Amino acid sequence: MAKASAPGKLILFGEHFVVYGLPAIATAIESRTVAEIQRAKEYSLLDNRPETPGYKKEKYDQQSDSIQRMLKVMGLEGKKVRIVLGGDLVAASGVGASGASCAAIAAALNEEFGLGMDRHEINDAAYEGEKGYHGMPSGIDNCCSTYGGFLHFRKDLKTGKSVVRQMHSKAPLSIVVGNTGLTSNTTKVVGDVRAKREKDPEKFKKIFDNYSKIAEEATVSVENGDLIKTGLLMNMNHLLLEEMGVSCDELEELVDLASRNGALGAKLTGTGRGGLMVALVTGGTGSRVASAIKKAGYHSEMTKIGAKGVKVIR
Ligand code: MEV
Repeated sequence: MAKASAPGKLILFGEHFVVYGLPAIATAIESRTVAEIQRAKEYSLLDNRPETPGYKKEKYDQQSDSIQRMLKVMGLEGKKVRIVLGGDLVAASGVGASGASCAAIAAALNEEFGLGMDRHEINDAAYEGEKGYHGMPSGIDNCCSTYGGFLHFRKDLKTGKSVVRQMHSKAPLSIVVGNTGLTSNTTKVVGDVRAKREKDPEKFKKIFDNYSKIAEEATVSVENGDLIKTGLLMNMNHLLLEEMGVSCDELEELVDLASRNGALGAKLTGTGRGGLMVALVTGGTGSRVASAIKKAGYHSEMTKIGAKGVKVIR
């Protein structure tokens, strides 16, 4: 029996743009998924992760495809294993639930079968698993879950490789998330964005140019610990995502609640059209933002950024 855990993620800048090779900033968070691999007479999966209601059922087929892809790419096709998933990361859209489970499963399989894979190879296997959920993922989620920390991420579209750099902020970033309670379908939303971009290339060129400037400035403001500027840039990033059609009423309400209760910046995070809102807060405003969100009937929590990446549990 082998066990491994991997953290969820939050994207602070650049979801969707990252699919087109533009840079993004994202972080691993404290909550983790634990994967346990047992040798068994038959293949089976027991998913004990806490969830946004309906998430696991909705993702079940994608999850099965994902696991089969990982077994294949790791040379374990047809192996009879029982996979047990758990941990405190809520399986929900926006928090990298699939990336975390892929990284944890890949690391636990590597341990159980003594494959001797290094962290980059585990990341590659997790990326293969992500394809089961996302079609053609950028790779940002599995990189956050595998490497951990606070990442500047870019997908090199020529080589298909992830270009990852650990970032350090001079000021600690405090984050509050709000959960719409809605599960989104990443393949569909990413596909819709692609179709809209093909239909109106002029409009999307402007949006992408604006985002490129935001990403450049955000890299500097995050590293300098300029929280006010970082918050403003998050708001601007959200407006662009809204213009691209990936927000929804619930996300707009959460962004509005966070801003009205003193957040420095707020935006949707991840796929959008459901999932999570992320807000940058200062020490004092965090609990105010979280309670306003709870009062409006949504789940909310505060989280720390820069958690450790995938690790085997011995
Ligand atoms: C999903 O967490 C982030 C997206 O940009 C998709 C991807 O990067 O593969 C929407």
